[in-house]
Amino acid sequence: MNRQEELAVGRRLIGHIDARTTDLADELFRNRTVNYASPERAALERERLFHELPMFMGLSTRLPKPGDYLTEDVAGMPVLMTRGADGQVRAFANICRHRAAPVASGCGNARAFVCPYHGWTYDSAGRLLGVTDKVGFAGLDLAAHGLVPLPCAEKHGMLYVRARAVQPGESATIDIDAALGPMAEDLAALDLASYPLFSTDRVTPRINWKFAVDTFLEGYHIPHLHRKTIGPYFIGNTGLFDEAGLNGRMCVAKTSFDKLRAVPEDERDYLRHVVAIYQLFPNALLIWQLDHVEIWRAFPDRDTPSRCEIEMTIYTPAGTTRPDSYWEKNRDIAIRTVMEEDFPLGERMQIGFESGATEEVIYGRNEPSLVHFHRSIRNALGVAA
Ligand code: FES
Ligand SMILES: [Fe+2]
Repeated sequence: MNRQEELAVGRRLIGHIDARTTDLADELFRNRTVNYASPERAALERERLFHELPMFMGLSTRLPKPGDYLTEDVAGMPVLMTRGADGQVRAFANICRHRAAPVASGCGNARAFVCPYHGWTYDSAGRLLGVTDKVGFAGLDLAAHGLVPLPCAEKHGMLYVRARAVQPGESATIDIDAALGPMAEDLAALDLASYPLFSTDRVTPRINWKFAVDTFLEGYHIPHLHRKTIGPYFIGNTGLFDEAGLNGRMCVAKTSFDKLRAVPEDERDYLRHVVAIYQLFPNALLIWQLDHVEIWRAFPDRDTPSRCEIEMTIYTPAGTTRPDSYWEKNRDIAIRTVMEEDFPLGERMQIGFESGATEEVIYGRNEPSLVHFHRSIRNALGVAA
């Protein structure tokens, strides 16, 4: 966020800390437990959220150099993203036009992609360069059999893709600023392109993908569930929430925040004492962690609403003089807190959702990010409950 916004956030937080208050949603919100468990709801979410909306794929530094590529399964769409020799980021369905094998796997740097099945070769702009038996495929128009392009964009140091092929007459570009709304300027000021990728961890807990997002959207549970890990570092149940279309930003203060009171207001470095959680609808969280960036993304399982794949990545500042052990410690605490406290409890809550014993969960007025997230889901799905 820019300096003016940082000062405004700092002032609002001091107001809440002094008054022992927190930003509030307009009303209590009730959500049906079946929304975390029903196959019909999962199918609708896949179609209207994961295949229709631009998906945040992480920071630009996942593809730092020409020739770099990454592959991912985005809710059932195999995606290949490349940075061409021209520096341009492109995305394709990672599906060979011969018989649908993935042409690339993992990530790396390549001049061309050779399909592992029969050796058809594509370049990083998706063009089919050649087939391996010219007689067998005589007459095939190579120019018409390139990889199927997917809309994608790179802006403010962020990568986005839409996991559905472009239909005739449809635009192949994504307007990231329109997707981020008022949060675009805030994220641009973080200079995200200057944070190289440090680590990637993946887990597949038995929880619905929405619960993985919910985990990050309230600080109410921190003094309770995280009593022994991060609890002592945060001022619990006090925070800010600002919505930005379907997205939102939550800010919570660390206990070290109180040290700032001794500093004249215009010299206060609030950003070193405030964790800002940017909720990038529908499935991603970009967390400003004082001196580095942590990103969580959750993807629904192909087959069951009760499982998801969650990726945590840590990006550290370019040219940092801190040793790797310092960043490893940050990675460790994130793993201990979220993967060993939030998600194991979440797996038991998922059993609760599926038990049918209660029909609803309740999000309090003191959990405005949660309320906004689930309202946004209803809006994006076009459903009333
Ligand atoms: S499936 Fe790719 S070359 Fe045959
Ligand atoms: Fe938590």
